[in-house]
Amino acid sequence: MIDEKRFKLVDTKTGKEYEFDGIKGSIGPDVINISSLYKKTGLFTYDPGFTSTAACNSKITYIDGEKGILQYRGYPIEELANSSSHLEVCYLLMHGELPSESDKNEFEEIIKNHTLLNEQIIQFYRGFRRDAHPMAMMIGIVGALSSFYHDSLNIEDPEHRMIASHRILAKMPTIAAMAYKYSVGQPFVYPVNKLNYADNFLHMCFATPTKEYEINPLFSKIMDQIFILHADHEQNASTSTVRTAGSSLANPYACLSAGISSLWGKSHGGANEAVIDMIDEIVLNDLKPKDFIEEVKNKKNKIRLMGFGHRVYKSYDPRAKVLKKSTEDLFKDLKIKSKELEIAKEIEELALNDTYFKEKNLYPNVDFYSGILLKALDIPTTMFTPIFAVGRTVGWLSQWKEMIEDEEFKITRPRQLFTGNKDKSYKKVPDREKKSIFNLLWLKKTFLNNQ
Ligand code: ACO
Repeated sequence: MIDEKRFKLVDTKTGKEYEFDGIKGSIGPDVINISSLYKKTGLFTYDPGFTSTAACNSKITYIDGEKGILQYRGYPIEELANSSSHLEVCYLLMHGELPSESDKNEFEEIIKNHTLLNEQIIQFYRGFRRDAHPMAMMIGIVGALSSFYHDSLNIEDPEHRMIASHRILAKMPTIAAMAYKYSVGQPFVYPVNKLNYADNFLHMCFATPTKEYEINPLFSKIMDQIFILHADHEQNASTSTVRTAGSSLANPYACLSAGISSLWGKSHGGANEAVIDMIDEIVLNDLKPKDFIEEVKNKKNKIRLMGFGHRVYKSYDPRAKVLKKSTEDLFKDLKIKSKELEIAKEIEELALNDTYFKEKNLYPNVDFYSGILLKALDIPTTMFTPIFAVGRTVGWLSQWKEMIEDEEFKITRPRQLFTGNKDKSYKKVPDREKKSIFNLLWLKKTFLNNQ
């Protein structure tokens, strides 16, 4: 796949020239292979946030951010979201092709047979404060799984990788649902294997020992669609975190726990919760969407329009398009009016017609409508990001597996542009200048709260 030597770097001071290969992708931008740059020139490239850097090669997910295209293993997201099921998509992402009927049945059977958590793991929840965020619990519980499966922790063994992946994929809905149950003080509800992936999750979240949860097929379809739409998104922050953690040959439970941590931030998966917080704030303060947009545009306020903007999409996020339609269908079906939806639509309309957002190519992303949709399904806001994590689990696992099986696999070790001090001499304590870095009041407060 290596193109002819077509890139030349010229040091204009010395006139020295260095050549680099281009590498062609099957679709999308080609890359310049600069892996020999340091050896040849003694220089690094500088690209904070990786805005122009392909950190790996991958066959899993393709995004065209300009055209708003997303494909899993070549299949358009719209077709998968409307016609497939999450477990089928999981098979596709993990194995590269849609399953035959018997492969699908076998795969579903395997996943269903791993949904239970070890009873000892369930004790871990009780160590968390009752008001702990479910994401905090998920980080801990998923990491703790590493201590339970010594039989399948040799990540250099493909069979172990597969068993661990099946376990994680199967247990993630159970882990998320139990985190929710614990946070609301209800007894844990065990998985029921005759239910499908989405139904089982809803059942574990909302059934109680006193009352069965009646599954509404529409809710179930939407939950499954949400899982599909979140299943993978190439080298985003959490996936890159999983790859980085895995590059040191850490076990997959530890890697996934790192991925969940990275997802939690409001610039990433935490944005779905932040969208609802933002709309609640608008309602609570009786703000007009128009005025709120003006506040966002005033950079001094440092307010961002949550659910808008994306590093890769410079047009409408295709996942947001699917979710907007599902949101409208759901509200029509339930014959309910939602103030949140009205506000969201007004904000979207205003932003899409505003020069600030147009010039910066800021469009709704997946989180803009997913929050409103989840709220309509009566899902509490603290569960929005855990649901994203349940959906994304298969993407993390597929990318982790692909990385380990890659011939070019190496530990991730970025370099840096050092801008700090150099060659300082050690001074004894009395010879040092006083420099107060702590706010005493704040210190006192944290000391008092530190139980
Ligand atoms: N509201 C207002 N202004 C914005 C927004 C926003 N949501 N997003 C970007 N901008 C502005 C920035 O202020 C910046 O303006 P400037 O060029 O005048 O300085 C410009 O657009 C570019 O923004 P960056 O932060 O440099 O873009 P980046 O690609 O690094 O960030 C991100 C992408 C983090 C998603 C950003 O758009 C954002 O913060 N959005 C809101 C949070 C959100 O919805 N996150 C979910 C992303 S989707 C996902 O992870 C599933």
